[in-house]
Amino acid sequence: MQIRRFEDGDADAIAEIIRRCLREVNIRDYPAETIERMCAHYDAARLRELAEQREIVVAAAGDALLGTVSRDGYKVFTMFVDPDHAGEGIGRKLMNHLEEQVRNAGFDFVEAGASITAHAFYQKRGYIDVRETDTEFGLNYILRKPLFETEAAG
Ligand SMILES: CC(C)(COP(=O)(O)OP(=O)(O)OC[C@H]1O[C@@H](n2cnc3c(N)ncnc32)[C@H](O)[C@@H]1OP(=O)(O)O)[C@@H](O)C(=O)NCCC(=O)NCCS
Repeated sequence: MQIRRFEDGDADAIAEIIRRCLREVNIRDYPAETIERMCAHYDAARLRELAEQREIVVAAAGDALLGTVSRDGYKVFTMFVDPDHAGEGIGRKLMNHLEEQVRNAGFDFVEAGASITAHAFYQKRGYIDVRETDTEFGLNYILRKPLFETEAAG
């Protein structure tokens, strides 16, 4: 599996992964109406637009795309893994890659905006709660992790 920069041609497949995550996984923590608004928000056109403002990376196995995460400076957003491949370490590899990018950019901490669904994933990686925020897409947790320590969770 390869972690590489998002390309315009990835937009449809990544939008589909995001829609599937939202409808199959995040639906257990958020109302259906919120889920559908998020699905409409993260369409292919929006992803191409976001790619100009943020660094978006994808996890790829051959031609198949398996997940994505993005970053703006020290802030990490939009982490989604194909539900058929959840629990296979793809999220961990995406985060390892992005945290390294944040470290290389000179920041000594990384910040994540986490859904209720992914909150424990970040805590397990050593992220510490900073605050909760009410967004247009419901409750999110803001967490931070120092980058100057050796990674325990790897
Ligand atoms: C959260 C998510 C990105 C995790 O990706 P993943 O590829 O399934 O995670 P990994 O297989 O790399 O798991 C790494 C570790 O985190 C744990 N983990 C994964 N998802 C978790 C969760 N939701 N809660 C708690 N722990 C979790 C795994 O058990 C594993 O633990 P280990 O190191 O002891 O083996 C993925 O499940 C997902 O896309 N969820 C829905 C979308 C979402 O909520 N995205 C976040 C928006 S901020």
